[in-house]
Amino acid sequence: MSGILEGKRVLISGVLLESSIAFHAAKQAQEQGAEIILTAFPRPTLTERIAKKLPKPTKVIELDVTNSEHLARVADVVGEELGGLDGVVHSIGFAPPDALGGNFLNTPFESVATAMHVSAFSLKSLTMACLPLMQNGGSVVGLTFDASFAWPQYDWMGPAKAALEATSRYLARDLGKQNIRCNLVSAGPLGSMAAKSIPGFSELASVWDNRSPLEWDLNDPEPAGKAIVALLSDWFPKTTGEIVHVDGGLHAIGA
Ligand SMILES: NC(=O)c1ccc[n+]([C@@H]2O[C@H](COP(=O)([O-])OP(=O)(O)OC[C@H]3O[C@@H](n4cnc5c(N)ncnc54)[C@H](O)[C@@H]3O)[C@@H](O)[C@H]2O)c1
Repeated sequence: MSGILEGKRVLISGVLLESSIAFHAAKQAQEQGAEIILTAFPRPTLTERIAKKLPKPTKVIELDVTNSEHLARVADVVGEELGGLDGVVHSIGFAPPDALGGNFLNTPFESVATAMHVSAFSLKSLTMACLPLMQNGGSVVGLTFDASFAWPQYDWMGPAKAALEATSRYLARDLGKQNIRCNLVSAGPLGSMAAKSIPGFSELASVWDNRSPLEWDLNDPEPAGKAIVALLSDWFPKTTGEIVHVDGGLHAIGA
């Protein structure tokens, strides 16, 4: 039986540890037949070590999404390796410590700017860096944490995710003519490195214990990975500017 990504070439950012959502997207993408390339931050050696746990070997390239030289190199390096791209996964988020954990009213703009640059603007930067490789159209998939609500402790990552969600819609608007789709997966809380860096993350995650219709497992990024793969595939051909919730259904429940 052939996989749903057979023949697709996909660039995947955000593999840091095995707990990274992107690791599970990469694993399932390979299992579904994709050829992948990983981008790494802060050090390729860290990502290379984790990449050894994937079903197939994969090249890793260094990419800090705020570094214009790194971004300018992407098309050449990936083009040489894969010839082109059919999909891009943006699984990147960061906010400085003073922008998280209940400090919302006192966060300086410099920290807010960093959160916005790395977590929201970078969806545009990464997509544009990959654009020359997507001559036959493609699918861009990013990760959000539902920005329709104010959450405990999440602070300036909330406005950064709201900006990411809007950026995704504008990319969908501007790239539709080139048959490039842009969608987000809105994941429930998962115990990754990014999550652990949020002070009081367990308070945020405990909301799911009481309200999620489907049982939620903080240590299982596989459902988010599967949704990413589905959005990369040809099974969502007319879906763009969309946000697919992989949150156990919590977004639908009022109280
Ligand atoms: N863990 C959760 O609860 C959760 C829930 C919903 C959405 N998300 C989102 O999923 C995405 C992946 O996070 P994760 O939970 O897998 O955590 P993670 O810590 O494994 O991944 C975050 C990634 O961001 C990358 N990154 C940070 N700064 C970067 C930069 N300047 N350039 C390039 N890459 C950079 C890191 O290298 C890391 O790989 C993020 O957008 C995150 O906000 C996470």
